[in-house]
Amino acid sequence: MKVVAEAGVDRAIFEIYGLRGVERFNEILATHQDWTTEQALKHLEAEPTRPWTQFFNDTRFVSIAQKLFWEREARQHNEHIEILEIGCSSGEETYSLAIMMFEAGCVDFHITAVDVNPIVIGTAREGKYKLNYPIDTLNHLPHELRRSDFINGYFEDTGTTWSAEGTEKPIAEAAEQLKRKTTFVCHDIIDQPVPGNYGVIVINNVLGLYPRTTREKMLRNILASMQSGGLLVLEPFRPAMNNPTDWERESLVPYNAWRLELSKNFPVEAVDLNDGCYRFIGNQK
Ligand SMILES: C[S@@+](CC[C@H](N)C(=O)[O-])C[C@H]1O[C@@H](n2cnc3c(N)ncnc32)[C@H](O)[C@@H]1O
Repeated sequence: MKVVAEAGVDRAIFEIYGLRGVERFNEILATHQDWTTEQALKHLEAEPTRPWTQFFNDTRFVSIAQKLFWEREARQHNEHIEILEIGCSSGEETYSLAIMMFEAGCVDFHITAVDVNPIVIGTAREGKYKLNYPIDTLNHLPHELRRSDFINGYFEDTGTTWSAEGTEKPIAEAAEQLKRKTTFVCHDIIDQPVPGNYGVIVINNVLGLYPRTTREKMLRNILASMQSGGLLVLEPFRPAMNNPTDWERESLVPYNAWRLELSKNFPVEAVDLNDGCYRFIGNQK
């Protein structure tokens, strides 16, 4: 088995990705024993964290979409809403948000969804998902597509199946009306901001996977794409992960703990709307 001898590489990985990153790097080297350090590093950079996700993952999306609808109604004009999602993984969360926007009556929107991992971006663009249950039985199952998503034309039955535990299960595909509303882009938010000016930025289950300095860099890059008056939707707060035991030791603390971290690190002026949502005032660039 190949051993990571270069302490310099380990230290550099630790600073950006934390101890979990060093563990992942060693896992990659153990799995691909013929790879060079450079090849393993490239692999780590393209998949720094696991891309775990599911449909309807964030229960706040319903109220956020409704809030956007009513705010727009109050202003009495139909402005277009540009949404940016950071760390979208294979697109389940992005398509869920698009459905929630439609259901709230917000039809004039577009979601640019980015992820550092090119494989999950490919899956998201394709928009095909293996379901665990027959479409007719999809009623009130947490984190599954719903039968109504097919009736309302957000998803379609591809007519093809996949096999699990001896049973054939359906494969669904995001319909054109959802695909038109989404653009999936491969982008590393540690490196640079996503070009553009967004009215809503959503990040869920990403920041908490990184050590403090990296998370500050990510937040700075995120804020650089924020429109004046934009809405930032942050994931539940976790103390920055510098240590692999942090996740086991620290439980989730309320969304409003972000307020302190934001005010300590950024000269931002924002109204705390609770539940991890911040309305930004002025230009954050
Ligand atoms: C745990 S998943 C969360 C997916 C989705 N947001 C959700 O909550 O269901 C984290 C995602 O963030 C992506 N990610 C991690 N670091 C990133 C980075 N530096 N830039 C962009 N995406 C990143 C990962 O590739 C992964 O798909």
